[in-house]
Amino acid sequence: MPDAIFAHPRLAPVYDAFDGDRDDLAAYLGIAGELGAERVLDVGCGTGCLAVLLAEGGRTVMGADPARASLAVARAKDARARITWVHGDAAALPPFDADLAVMTGNVAQVFLTDEDWARTLRGIRAALRPRGYLVFETRRPEWRAWEKWAAETESVVLDIPGIGSVEQRSEVTDVSLPFVSIRGTYTFRADGAVIVSDSTLRFRGRGEVESSLDAQGYRVLDVREAPDRPGRELVFIAERAT
Ligand SMILES: C[S@@+](CC[C@H](N)C(=O)[O-])C[C@H]1O[C@@H](n2cnc3c(N)ncnc32)[C@H](O)[C@@H]1O
Repeated sequence: MPDAIFAHPRLAPVYDAFDGDRDDLAAYLGIAGELGAERVLDVGCGTGCLAVLLAEGGRTVMGADPARASLAVARAKDARARITWVHGDAAALPPFDADLAVMTGNVAQVFLTDEDWARTLRGIRAALRPRGYLVFETRRPEWRAWEKWAAETESVVLDIPGIGSVEQRSEVTDVSLPFVSIRGTYTFRADGAVIVSDSTLRFRGRGEVESSLDAQGYRVLDVREAPDRPGRELVFIAERAT
């Protein structure tokens, strides 16, 4: 069951506003070009920010996510219905013969158990063409992002077109490494509704990610810094080995 921030019908429509500028997506567009990818699968596509950019570039795109409310936001951005939207889990993707699968926005960190992560990598592998690519990032545990998040105690208030003023308060509710739990509390000032979203993320180190890719039939081609967040995240570029 995805977290409320993705799955709740009132929270998914405010996700993009609170997520801010998506400076991270340019790197993924660049990598798709570098790899010559024409068919791209966006796993955990959420509100579809990257999928829409990929389709605008003329690529054949499938976006998959288990959160219906996020997919509804994504579909609304795809007025010409160029993208195939799939409601579902990364472990059970339809065949797509993708040149490239991507997971942006640290989707890789939502898979908490080793078995969930392994099932996800196997599911994506089955949707890739032979020697197709998988590219995703994850926050480096060494950066200790949770300490920065815990220090940010100011609430954020945004005036969102069509929705009105919404206040977001964020807190770190538990750190039991490799797991970090966070809570977002959203107050809709138009009617006073308060909706809480709890999330837990898993922080995996570089060696752990590399061996999990190897174990699930991928070859790691490169591990890069995220250009917009140097030192904070690692971008893995892997290839379906067989
Ligand atoms: C932080 S959001 C990132 C969304 C999008 N990729 C982006 O960059 O804006 C994480 C996404 O992972 C999705 N997700 C959670 N569990 C999933 C699963 N089992 N399979 C695929 N996606 C999942 C959530 O619904 C959510 O849309």
